Amino acid sequence: MKTKGAEFIWLDGKFVKWEDAKVPIFTHALHYGTTIFEGIRAYSSMDNKLHVFRLAEHMERLHRSAQVYRINVNYSAKELCDATVELLRKNDIKESCYIRPLNFVGLHGIDLNVTLDSPTYCAIIVFPFARYFSEQGIRVGVSSWRRINDTSIPPMAKAAGNYLNSVLATQESKRHGFEESIMLDQEGNISEAPGENVFLVRDHSIYTPYIGNSALEGITRNTTFEIAANLGYTIVERPISRTELYMGDELFLTGTAAEIVGILSVDGHPVGDGREGQITRRIRQAYSRIVTAEEPRFSSWLTSVW
Ligand SMILES: Cc1ncc(COP(=O)(O)O)c(C=O)c1O
Repeated sequence: MKTKGAEFIWLDGKFVKWEDAKVPIFTHALHYGTTIFEGIRAYSSMDNKLHVFRLAEHMERLHRSAQVYRINVNYSAKELCDATVELLRKNDIKESCYIRPLNFVGLHGIDLNVTLDSPTYCAIIVFPFARYFSEQGIRVGVSSWRRINDTSIPPMAKAAGNYLNSVLATQESKRHGFEESIMLDQEGNISEAPGENVFLVRDHSIYTPYIGNSALEGITRNTTFEIAANLGYTIVERPISRTELYMGDELFLTGTAAEIVGILSVDGHPVGDGREGQITRRIRQAYSRIVTAEEPRFSSWLTSVW
C-alpha cells in the first residue's frame, strides 16, 4: 500500500477523506522526528468478523512513548481505541488490515524544547494488509549498525526518529540479499530486529534478550510469553551473544507486522536443519489461531469491529 489505503483517515477527532488529510510543511515532526506511533493489526475470522488484536495495549504503549518525550496526546487510550473501531466501521473494512496511530508535534517552530503545551496532531490510518514475510521463514544477517540505546535515543519509546536506525540496518540487509537484519546492542549482545523482537531456542529452552538489551517491549513478544507458557515452555530473558545465533536449534522473530516468523539462516549459517523449527511452528500456529478468534481462552485480547 503506497498510495491510498482507505476512504477515511481519523484526524484529531474527525473523519477526513484520505486525500484531504494534510498537515503544514512546518510541522515539527517532519523536521525532527517528534512522532510517537503504533502498529496494530486487525484480522478477519472464519465467520467474516473483524477483530483488532490487543488494541488497548497498543494505545497504552502509545501513551507511554509520549510520556518519555513529553509529547501531548489529546486523546486517552480508551478514546483512541473507540476511534479506531469507528474508523474501521466508517471505512467498511471487513478484511485483515493494518492500523497506524500517529501522534506528532505540529506547529511548534524550529526550537527543540517540546513541552506538553506544544501543539500536536493525532491521526489513525488503516489499510488492507496481508503477510509481511513468507510463512516458510526468512534469512537474516547481523547488521554492522548497532541498535540505538538508552543513553542516547530510548528504544523503549516507539518514536519515529528511532526508525532511522532501523532503515540503515534494513538497507544493509537487503543489499546483502537477506530478508531482515538482527542488530546488536552497544555491548555486542543481540538486541532486536529493525521492527521485531528476537527469540532463540536451544535444547528445548526458549530465550530472548532483556528489554535492557535495547529492545522494544513488543506486544507480540509478550503474547509469545503467554503462548509459550500455555504450551508448557518457560521463556528466559537473558543476554544472547551473536555466536549463540549460529548455535541455535531454532530462531524466530515476533512483531505485529511480521507476526511469528522462523529464521532459516543467520549470516549464511543454517539454523537447525535450515527449516522452520517445531517450537517456532507451534507458537506461530497458536498465534495465528488466537488472532483469528479460534482460541476462546484468549478472546479478551480481541476487540470486535463487526
Ligand atoms: C523496533 C521494534 N521492535 C520490536 C517490535 C515488535 O513490537 P510489537 O510486537 O509490539 O509489534 C517492533 C514493532 O512495533 C519494532 O518496531
